[in-house]
Amino acid sequence: MEIFELTLLPVLFKAQRILRVDQKLMQPGNLSNKKIGIGMIGTGEISNLHSAGYRNNNRARIVAVADINPQIAEEKRSAFGADSAYNDYKILLKDDKVDAVDICIPNFLHASAAIAAAEAGKHVLVEKPMATNPKECEEMIAAAKRNGVKLMVGHNQVFYPPHQETKRLIDNEIGTPILLLTRLHNGFRQNRGWRAEAKSVGGGFLMEACVHRLYLSRYLMGEPTKIYCKNTRIFDDTVAEDICQVTIDFENGRQGSLVANQGGPFPLWDDRTEVIGSEGLVIVNGFEEQAIAGPPLMFYTNGRWIHYVRRGHPATVGNYPLGNLEIEADFSKTYANVTSHFVDCIAENKEPTVKGEDGKRAIEMVTACYESAKKESPVSI
Ligand SMILES: NC(=O)c1ccc[n+]([C@@H]2O[C@H](COP(=O)([O-])OP(=O)(O)OC[C@H]3O[C@@H](n4cnc5c(N)ncnc54)[C@H](O)[C@@H]3O)[C@@H](O)[C@H]2O)c1
Repeated sequence: MEIFELTLLPVLFKAQRILRVDQKLMQPGNLSNKKIGIGMIGTGEISNLHSAGYRNNNRARIVAVADINPQIAEEKRSAFGADSAYNDYKILLKDDKVDAVDICIPNFLHASAAIAAAEAGKHVLVEKPMATNPKECEEMIAAAKRNGVKLMVGHNQVFYPPHQETKRLIDNEIGTPILLLTRLHNGFRQNRGWRAEAKSVGGGFLMEACVHRLYLSRYLMGEPTKIYCKNTRIFDDTVAEDICQVTIDFENGRQGSLVANQGGPFPLWDDRTEVIGSEGLVIVNGFEEQAIAGPPLMFYTNGRWIHYVRRGHPATVGNYPLGNLEIEADFSKTYANVTSHFVDCIAENKEPTVKGEDGKRAIEMVTACYESAKKESPVSI
């Protein structure tokens, strides 16, 4: 074995250990006699991915659904194997079988539903963005504390194994982290349904889509201290910004840059994150189906590249040096990882990885972007 391959052995060993940990995280936990009863609030698009997570989880069962659209509620009750369908989530909150709720309704309704659920003694998982402003987030956190229930925010990109591995590489392998670059080319223009109303979204593209990039940046680089944002609207049928450029100062002198737009062709969703450190460079390729074009994760260190191979996608197994590092990189599984973590936190009485405070910090970042763009100057956060 060549010298530089030997020097990589600790990296490979640690990476493989981490991947095994990820696999363990995704397996059903210990069986208990009483399954945690889940009530789905909102049964639109994203609820399908959440429900798949619960269906494969031995510790939980969807017992009830609520949607203001009676037809959708009944269809999903049947599809999810739930006992009851309600058209008003306040009635679902009175259902004794419901121990925890999973909130999948438009953004502006997250806070009121989460607070009502906490007051009814139900644990809460709420989709991103946590709410539409920091004050709502504070009220949600206070309600959860007051009632002794868990509050978790569905920052699913934190549960994507290549992002978790990137975090590990940043913390342990790349020397001094210097700069993060992250981008989003989103071909899904937000111009339909509730996403076409600024009030329902709590803003525009930044709040609904870029929030993923912002919470991920914080997860990888640490606390942000200052944000400088420039926004432009280019389409007539969208409610707010279509192009965003954001620079972020992080603690410890690190910097970040986000470039995002919703101008590309449907159904493109291409994101990429790169982090350079004094001893290495990590690149996470775009991670949704449309962007599968190579290894999900690449790491440059000691003068050569390590390519990670996407599990279950032999087409991406190229003739890479040391290309035997498999990683789970199926984006759709991030939702099951979120729901499974939520269930584990309830069953084992532990704090979620993504707490209410993390959701609030993400909303503060979005809010700072809007404020900075309006003032045309940096904003401290
Ligand atoms: N994490 C992710 O990657 C991701 C992806 C998509 C959506 N989301 C988030 O999930 C949430 C829902 O998005 P979606 O794409 O599923 O939207 P959707 O429009 O497909 O579904 C929303 C559902 O909520 C129902 N609804 C509206 N008001 C209600 C109320 N008061 N009570 C009960 N039901 C109500 C609607 O009838 C609809 O069925 C949003 O917050 C969105 O930002 C997250």
